[in-house]
Amino acid sequence: MNKLFIGGGMRVRGRVRVSGSKNATLPIMAACLLTRKECVLHQVPDLDDVKVMEDVLVSLGARVKRENGTLIINPENITSYELPEHMSRKMRASNLVMGALLGRFGKARVSYPGGCAIGQRPMDIHLKGFRELGYTIGEYYGYIEGYASSSSDCDIMLDFPSVGATENLMMAAVISKNNTIIRNAAREPEIVDMQNFLNRMGAKIRGAGLDVIRIEGVNELNGVEHEVIPDRIEAGTFMVMAAASGGDVVIENVVAEHLVPVTAKIRETGAEVIRYNGSALRVLGKRKLGPVDIKTLPYPGFPTDMQPQMMALLSGVEGTSVIVETIFENRFMHVNELRRMGADIKIEGRVAIIKGKNRLRGATVEATDLRAGAALIVAAIGGTGETVIDNAYHIDRGYEKIEEKLRSLGITAYRIMT
Ligand code: EPZ
Repeated sequence: MNKLFIGGGMRVRGRVRVSGSKNATLPIMAACLLTRKECVLHQVPDLDDVKVMEDVLVSLGARVKRENGTLIINPENITSYELPEHMSRKMRASNLVMGALLGRFGKARVSYPGGCAIGQRPMDIHLKGFRELGYTIGEYYGYIEGYASSSSDCDIMLDFPSVGATENLMMAAVISKNNTIIRNAAREPEIVDMQNFLNRMGAKIRGAGLDVIRIEGVNELNGVEHEVIPDRIEAGTFMVMAAASGGDVVIENVVAEHLVPVTAKIRETGAEVIRYNGSALRVLGKRKLGPVDIKTLPYPGFPTDMQPQMMALLSGVEGTSVIVETIFENRFMHVNELRRMGADIKIEGRVAIIKGKNRLRGATVEATDLRAGAALIVAAIGGTGETVIDNAYHIDRGYEKIEEKLRSLGITAYRIMT
């Protein structure tokens, strides 16, 4: 049993340093497969999901060494282009190796990644893009098989700005005699980080961060060193904790630009967010916050990965807030658990109507997925009494040393392993 104990009724105070971004690290680790040369990645967070991706690379024949926050990846002796089911089912993001394997070897065989608590998470946009890139893609017995069968310049229009599909197609297109355009591309900061990493390897990519990405194919890529960007969702989570508890927190190692949609919504509640030199934000909660309406959207809209945490905050704020979740079809798993803490939330399809009231109450609750677990921490801190969060391993997938960081901010937090 893996439980997290959180004491409520305390104001979050102090300074916390954000780790490297999980969602930048995972695709960049996959992109290391595109070269035979050693790559060195810095500011890599020590997370369960990163460990799974390390295992994925090793299962393909790469050598991976971790030295504190640095990963040394040597993909010289990749022996396989097949990702078995037991690997693929461990984590959805393992499907990111498909684009890299196609890009390097011209073939790949990857078991369908399972869905997860928040949605089916299909790969149709990835596969349609691979086909437009000239790969023959077949689906047999739960596996997706692809191999290079034709090659020409192509101009791809994504049906939805899928983050993973954009990353997979960049990796599948970068080593080529042809040029590729990806339209309606995802614009997340993690896509820009991947472009910067690939260009440092010798790729010729332009436009990441906008909706049209242009790739001039090159013959081969070299090994490089790269520092991944800070984790904007971890930063946003600590910002919400400070607002929810009437606290005062300086969050270090942030790119304030990446947090503009989150900052705007937190300010709208009445909390104060101050840019605190180039790479830190200071958040001052207020005793009396107000309700806000939120609609999750692809970047630069409000991020779906911050929706559960904001719902936890708004559940403890007097007034009615409305949250519309447009990205995932089942990302309200945290609602039942918040209700156990006294939250008054009504769900109508993808719309949540939150009748906020003062202070939630501590309870025994269960994390159902990564950000739902983070939301329960926010609710516990902003509420009164003690909370025990079961299945806390979900939280460890995306938050490095979470109880240490909470304790450094004055929160009573410890792990109960039985
Ligand atoms: C990435 O997932 C992130 N994960 C997610 O973070 C994040 O929530 C998501 O982007 C949206 O921002 C990583 O980067 C490792 P999508 P991804 O493809 O790439 C549908 C977290 O908590 N879709 O942009 O899987 C899909 O079902 C995680 O850190 C298709 O229909 O997200 C979803 O409804 C959770 N067909 C929507 O698009 C496809 O082929 C967005 O998915 C692909 C996606």
